[in-house]
Amino acid sequence: MTKIYAKFINKIVIVGCGSIGQGTLPLILRHIDVDKKNISIVTADERGREIAKKEGIAFYINPLTPKNLEKVLTPLLGEGGFLVNLSVDVSSVALMRYCQKHKALYIDTSVESWPDGYADSKIPISERANYGLRESAMKLKKEFKNGPTTIVCHGANPGIVSHFLKRALMTIAKDVGMKANKPANREEWAKLAKNLGVKTIHCAEYDTQTTNKPKQIGRCENTWSVDGLYGEAVCLPSELGWGTHEKQLPPDGRKYNFGCKSAIYLLRPGTEVKVRTWTPARKNFIGKVITHNESISIADYFTLKKGNKVLYRPTVHYAYRLCDAAMLSLDEIIGKNYRIGEQRILMDEIVDGMDELGMLIMGHKKNAYWYGSQLTIQQARKLAPYQNATGLQVTIGVLAAIVWAIENPRMGIIEADDMDFERMMEIIEPYMGKMVGEYTDWTPLTGRQKLFPESVDKKDPWQFKNFRVV
Ligand SMILES: NC(=O)c1ccc[n+]([C@@H]2O[C@H](COP(=O)([O-])OP(=O)(O)OC[C@H]3O[C@@H](n4cnc5c(N)ncnc54)[C@H](O)[C@@H]3O)[C@@H](O)[C@H]2O)c1
Repeated sequence: MTKIYAKFINKIVIVGCGSIGQGTLPLILRHIDVDKKNISIVTADERGREIAKKEGIAFYINPLTPKNLEKVLTPLLGEGGFLVNLSVDVSSVALMRYCQKHKALYIDTSVESWPDGYADSKIPISERANYGLRESAMKLKKEFKNGPTTIVCHGANPGIVSHFLKRALMTIAKDVGMKANKPANREEWAKLAKNLGVKTIHCAEYDTQTTNKPKQIGRCENTWSVDGLYGEAVCLPSELGWGTHEKQLPPDGRKYNFGCKSAIYLLRPGTEVKVRTWTPARKNFIGKVITHNESISIADYFTLKKGNKVLYRPTVHYAYRLCDAAMLSLDEIIGKNYRIGEQRILMDEIVDGMDELGMLIMGHKKNAYWYGSQLTIQQARKLAPYQNATGLQVTIGVLAAIVWAIENPRMGIIEADDMDFERMMEIIEPYMGKMVGEYTDWTPLTGRQKLFPESVDKKDPWQFKNFRVV
C-alpha cells in the first residue's frame, strides 16, 4: 500500500482543502514521488490548515476569483506544474484554460462555476445544469487537442464508476457466452453494450454511515461537501442520460437543443426525483436522481451513431440514497424554500456504516448486474487518514487520475470514459474495501401494484416510468 506510482519534479497546487482536499493530500504524499516543498494548497478558509501543517505542506488562504487567478497561481505553480482542483465556487473552465496557457496538467472532480452560477435564476436551467457545464468543458477539446492532459471530473462518481462499468460489461459478456475482446474505442464499447442488450444503467449508491447523535435540527449534514450537495441536489435540475429504448419523455422532461444531446433534464431538483434501484447489500431501495456529470458523459460515450442518426444509447443516471442525516437535511432545505443553514461534514463522529457504490447494469440476458465497492468506515480509516468511506472512494479516484495524467501528459481534455480502465483499476482497487459483482432477478416491477393502483409498462420493465416513484 505504499507503492510509488509516479514521479513528478515540477510544482503541484491543490485548490481547495475541504473533505476531498484533506483526504487527497496523504495519498499524493504516499504514492507520488514529489518533493513536499513543491506542493502548496490554495483555499478559501481555515479547513485543512492543521493537516497541511502536520504533513509539512504550504497552506495559503487566498480565495480565487476571475481577477486574481493568474496572480495567485503563477508564483506557486510555475510552468509545467500540476493543478489539482478540489474546490467549490471556482470555475473549472477558467482553471482549465489557465493550465493550458501555463502548460500545466489539471484534474477536477466536478465541473464547477464561479459562486452563484448554480443558483442564478436568470441563467436558463439548461445552461446552468450539469449538461451545460460539461458542454463548456468539452468545447475546449478541439482548441487544446494534444495539449497538457486535463482530466475533467475524476473522483468516485463521476470518475471511478466509469471504470467499474467497463469491467462489468466485460464480465457480463463472458457470463452470457459472448466472445468479446476488450473494446478499443468508444464505438466498440457502445457496440458491446448494445449487443448485450443493456438498456438502463444506474450509478446505484447507498451510504449507511451514521454517527451516534441524531441530526441537529436546522443543520445540513453530509458525508462530503455540503455546498456541493446543495448545488447539485437542490439548485440544479435532475438530469439523466436518455436511452433509445425509452418510449416517452417524462411529463416534466425537457430535451436540450445544443451540444451532444445525450441527456434530458427534469423541471425539478434532483432531491425531489426518486427512483427504485438495487445494490447487493441493501437489495431494492429508493434513490434520488441527482444530476451528475457521469450520467451525461457515459450516455454520450455509449451512443452508437450512423451519420447523425442515433442507433443506440442506454439510459444512465444516479440513484443515490444519501446517509440518513443528509436525507433529513435535504427535506429541511426544501421545506425552507431552498434556504440552507448551518453546515457540517461528518467525519470523526461517524461510528458505523459503509458506502456501497457501483453500477447497476440492466436489460441484458442475465437481467441485471451490480458491480462496485463496499467500503466500510472502519476499512476506510485503516486504509488512509483524514477521511470517511465516501471520501476515500473519491480521493483514490483523484490519485489514480493524477498518476494517469503524469503517465499520459499530452492527451488534451479528457474524461474518465476515455481512459484505460484496467490501469485505473490497478490503482483504485486496493482502496475499495470489497469489490462485489452480483446478478439479480430484480426489476423495478418486482412486488409492485399491491396496495395501490400504479401505471406501469409491463411490456418493458426498463422504462424510466417504471423506476420513477411518483
Ligand atoms: N466526483 C466525485 O465523486 C465527488 C465526490 C465528492 C465531492 N466532489 C467534488 O469535489 C469538490 C470538493 O468537495 P469537498 O467535499 O472537498 O468540498 P468542501 O465543501 O468540503 O470544500 C470545498 C473547498 O473549496 C474551497 N474554496 C471555496 N471557494 C474557493 C475559492 N474561491 N478559491 C479557492 N478555494 C475555494 C473551500 O475553502 C474548501 O476548502 C466539490 O466540487 C465536490 O462537488 C466530487
